[in-house]
Amino acid sequence: MDGARTGFDHDPIGGAVGEYVAQGSGSGVSVGEAGAAWRDWRILPRTFVDTTTVSLGCTLLGRDHATAFGAAPTTLQRAVHPDGELAVARACAAAGTPLVVSSNAATPFAEIGATGVDWWLQAYVPQDRPLATGLLGRAVEAGARAVVLTADTPVVSTRLLGPSGLVWDVVPPSSVRVNFDPGYDDDAPGAQKATDLGPQDVAWLGDVTGLPVVVKGVLDPDGARRCVEAGAAAVWVSTHGGRQLDRVVPTAHALPEVVAAVAGDVEVYVDGGVRDGIDLLVAWGLGARCVFLGRPVSWALRDGADGVAGWIDALSLQAVEALRLAGCTSPGDAAGLRLRPVR
Ligand SMILES: Cc1cc2nc3c(=O)[nH]c(=O)nc-3n(C[C@H](O)[C@H](O)[C@H](O)COP(=O)(O)O)c2cc1C
Repeated sequence: MDGARTGFDHDPIGGAVGEYVAQGSGSGVSVGEAGAAWRDWRILPRTFVDTTTVSLGCTLLGRDHATAFGAAPTTLQRAVHPDGELAVARACAAAGTPLVVSSNAATPFAEIGATGVDWWLQAYVPQDRPLATGLLGRAVEAGARAVVLTADTPVVSTRLLGPSGLVWDVVPPSSVRVNFDPGYDDDAPGAQKATDLGPQDVAWLGDVTGLPVVVKGVLDPDGARRCVEAGAAAVWVSTHGGRQLDRVVPTAHALPEVVAAVAGDVEVYVDGGVRDGIDLLVAWGLGARCVFLGRPVSWALRDGADGVAGWIDALSLQAVEALRLAGCTSPGDAAGLRLRPVR
């Protein structure tokens, strides 16, 4: 896969599954703005910096990773390619790329863990908390190293429906929730997503799993501070790929205030519309310790593990080039790079 292909923002999957991956919510403002918002920033490259040796690595929650970008949790990976989550896990394991697995994955956590990948579980919290303990326990057993609590989904937003119709007519919901308790019923009392998520859930998830808790879906600096006070190990700036509340502030614009609010107390990650090496550079420059990508992984997965591996390689080459051109030797070194908004 050549470098230019990492920048594509069209749907190479096709049909209801491709439309599901690409879709946003509401009238599609947030999904449409996400990528352009990264390009709102202009860079002041540093001068006279020795960039002979450039590293893409980072330390996340105390563990080293070879790339300061990773795979965000996304559903329906098995609908994109039969190897689904396993293909993504194998490619991430080989590259040392962080992986976050959706709680709605279609592959048993044990199989994902057996690839040797360094992975985190993404979790939604149900109204009746104990209903989640089976899923959480299976993730811990399979070697998950952190729990990512998605905090932007008290209810699943109304999504834009593509011309091919509802994806669940093609992919039965039961096939994607293989790590839930047998017979888990989404419509059973208490199984709906919690509408009363609070700081106590950060503590609860930490107690149940013994793992660090990352809060995903934060845009507001005060909200970020509340996460820190609740004991979160990291805050993840995200609009859920423009799939939850539409017309929120793009992550590329929200990130600096969140970084300032947490004041180095916890790590800050970001996702949303990141497509190429310069987007990564800007995100690192604005203070993200790691940058996650969702749709690009699904698009690369169309060609299985090789597709994902090729995409990681291509994005890495772009990122190294961007770092060198900006006079930075690593993502951590890029933090604090001078950037100016153009509008
Ligand atoms: C098809 C699809 C499924 C997703 N599923 C989940 C999920 O299960 N849990 C979650 O927290 N976020 C989910 N997300 C959001 C991603 O984790 C991520 O925030 C978003 O995709 C980043 O934007 P990008 O796709 O522009 O890179 C999903 C996104 C997509 C596109």
